[in-house]
Amino acid sequence: MSSFKHSRPKGTQDFAPPQSDRKHRVEELFRHLAGLYGFQEIVIPVFEHTEVFIKSTGVGSDIVTKQMYTFKDRAGRSLTLRPEGTPGVVRAALENRVRMPCRLFYLGPYFRYERPQKGRTREFNQLGIEALGEASPLVDAEIIGFGDSFFRELGIADCTIQLNSIGCRECRPLYRQNLVGFLTRHRDELCNDCHVRLERNPLRVFDCKNSACQNLLAQAPKPREHLCSECDRHFSEVREALNRQGLQYELNDRLARGLDYYNRTTFEYLSGRLGAQDSLGGGGRYDYLVEEFGGPETPATGLAIGLDRTMLAMPELEQNKRRRLAFVVWMSDAELEPARKLLDQLRAEGIPARMDFDAGRPKRQFKLADAAGASCCVIVGPDELTRGVYSLKDLLTGEQTEVPVNTIAIQVRALLRD
Ligand code: HAM
Repeated sequence: MSSFKHSRPKGTQDFAPPQSDRKHRVEELFRHLAGLYGFQEIVIPVFEHTEVFIKSTGVGSDIVTKQMYTFKDRAGRSLTLRPEGTPGVVRAALENRVRMPCRLFYLGPYFRYERPQKGRTREFNQLGIEALGEASPLVDAEIIGFGDSFFRELGIADCTIQLNSIGCRECRPLYRQNLVGFLTRHRDELCNDCHVRLERNPLRVFDCKNSACQNLLAQAPKPREHLCSECDRHFSEVREALNRQGLQYELNDRLARGLDYYNRTTFEYLSGRLGAQDSLGGGGRYDYLVEEFGGPETPATGLAIGLDRTMLAMPELEQNKRRRLAFVVWMSDAELEPARKLLDQLRAEGIPARMDFDAGRPKRQFKLADAAGASCCVIVGPDELTRGVYSLKDLLTGEQTEVPVNTIAIQVRALLRD
């Protein structure tokens, strides 16, 4: 038991250094990639009016029925901490009259009241992209490719893509009818939750984790066998585009995804390194949501990546414990001011730099530089100053050289490790 007075609430997490640096790098890569694909950032509130999620994520979904952090504010309004990003992004795009078609990305914390375990927390981070106003199957393939490039760039080699199509308003009623017929015939084999799902929203039985239900669902009618000709064509074109992009995928008939707004393409990225919570990210097409939020008919598609699971699945990037930081060491009180000036100069040159103002002796400063993970120390001593040089120590190799004062920034930059 820790003797600290306070601990974080169950299911939340802290990102202390160096994990916070790793998180930052993953976010930077995401921003960079999103920019390359023409997405612009949208920043939305952490809580929304509860109806926003009820209307979109869905009344019958596990998220809405069991996992939302919903509370009344002091004026009695029902608000909910966002369990996912898509509804808020659609709401915000409409409210801000963002010109469509538009490509938006977002990142930040999300909240679901789930049973915490490895890779599943109550507060987690998503990196999401949404393309509003684009109907082509090539966009679905492009977005699936976006996620694949992202995971590949991070060195997650064992990521597989699961793919399905769940049809549209035209073909889903017949599928639903056949599914309900099947489930009703096997009612006795379903768990209690699935009895409720059967009444409220039968497609949601595919979210059930109960192994008996899952076995039964292996024999259930498949959405893909009920696609209308338009959906069938759309899905073939998605697959052909993925083939052309050289992306491998597995067709998964049970991939309905736990959210109500999807139609046609759904997909998920799985990693073998995550155990039970193996979904690194997922998404799909949602051609009706903008309209359901009061906007014009607008096809849409997107994905969200789980940042926390990505960090669990990716190999350690750091080859060593050094980071992009220079440490300025001063030998005696006489060098304190010249050293501080050098600190300003390095920062002005864009080099992250620190020094130890409390230090009495250089030995302590070297210790602190090492503990801070600095890449190098620039040593300012009386002898060096008179000769117009600094000593530069590479903290990775231990090598020390003398460098003329006017080239210090170049030499330090060459030693900085990321
Ligand atoms: P989602 O599949 O519910 O989709 O969540 C996306 C990802 O968020 C998951 O694959 C997982 O990596 C991560 N995630 C979800 N819940 C947790 C949790 N409790 N702990 C840790 N990670 C978690 C969506 O949210 C959709 N909005 C995706 C989308 C965007 N569809 C269209 N556009």
